[in-house]
Amino acid sequence: MALAQSPRGPPGDPMTSLLITDIGELVTNDPQWASAGQSAGQSADVARLGLVRNAALVVEAGRVAWIGPASLAPQADSQRSVAGRAVIPGFVDSHTHLVFAGDRAGEFAARMAGTAYDGGGIATTVAATRGASDEELRALLTARMAELRRQGTTTVEIKSGYGLSMDDELRLLRLAAEVTPHVTFLGAHVVPTEYAADRAAYVDLVTGPMLAAVVEQGAAAYVDVFCEPRSAHAFTEEEARAILLAGRSAGLGLRVHGNQLGPGPGVRLACELGAVSVDHCTYLDSDDVAALAESGTVATLLPGVEFSTRHPYPDARRLLDAGVQVALATDCNPGTCYTSSMPFVIALAVRELRMTPAEALYAATAGSAATLGLRGRIAVGEPADLAVLDAPSHVHLAYRPGVPLASALLG
Ligand code: NIG
Ligand code: FE
Repeated sequence: MALAQSPRGPPGDPMTSLLITDIGELVTNDPQWASAGQSAGQSADVARLGLVRNAALVVEAGRVAWIGPASLAPQADSQRSVAGRAVIPGFVDSHTHLVFAGDRAGEFAARMAGTAYDGGGIATTVAATRGASDEELRALLTARMAELRRQGTTTVEIKSGYGLSMDDELRLLRLAAEVTPHVTFLGAHVVPTEYAADRAAYVDLVTGPMLAAVVEQGAAAYVDVFCEPRSAHAFTEEEARAILLAGRSAGLGLRVHGNQLGPGPGVRLACELGAVSVDHCTYLDSDDVAALAESGTVATLLPGVEFSTRHPYPDARRLLDAGVQVALATDCNPGTCYTSSMPFVIALAVRELRMTPAEALYAATAGSAATLGLRGRIAVGEPADLAVLDAPSHVHLAYRPGVPLASALLG
């Protein structure tokens, strides 16, 4: 069924108000509505979604101006019925590597036949990306951004990391900044092959001139490092510490790829240094879980990676039960997880990580938003970053896996 649109005003015109009505289930993630759910006897995970049934909302100048029952909705310049569908906060994909050229389908096929992932394939993507022009990379990135929006993602973090030279890292950061304000410097993705014989020189480059140029150009808000002593290509604890400390001193927020391929120091290092997020968290011991629970660091789970590498899924229940803040993201990249679909990630989180549908949706919106300093909620005054589901309830995201139910609602 098509979305009905009244002819009273131009839809999406920033100067006019738009009433979105006939919302069967509005997910707000707003504590104000959550308390109503609690008193109505909803379980804590569902109550936290702050559901409003038979709802409407008004958007004005790109922000939410009113929320409430459809029967009480005010007049607006134009009106749009979503005919009983669910409306949710747009997904926040807080971990992607969207600026790259080429693909590694052959590596994926070999992995499905038993070859282990060790990060060595990143060099293939670095070579393809260095060889691509700005125009080629911009076209690929623009197409990927449109693909994300079509699936309900309205906020995206993008890392560099397939340049690994001063000029190429800055180029990837500039391209990323054309499409999102949430940009992360990942010069420490792997040691590039030309530095294989002198890793220390590459760490010096990343922590010295490369970082200085990134900061001088205001090219990134965060620094990230692939801390994985099990991979010959990635960074040891000592190297990762130097990179994170340099980034922190330069005023950047910290993000970490940690504990992806096996137990390791990444999670504890991230917590110790006050990273906003440590991502993957696939192999955790009890000290890691305790460190996360005591810190303000969010554990960002990327179950599309385990799907695509045949590693075991992270233990989300253990984290949630310990009171750790959990986020979900895609990690969209050509090596370990070539999907841009947050609904797919939610379905995996529910089926394989044993999160409830409500926990998974919260983690893919408010949870991931928190790592970017955002709220990921639908509330008066917040940006109107909305997604609509071609379904009456958020539960359908996991209940109907693989069905393209979600899309960005405006713009
Ligand atoms: O998050 N682990 C490191 N980086 C990416 C993979 C990049 C690649 O293989 O191209 C990740 O999984
Ligand atoms: Fe990643």
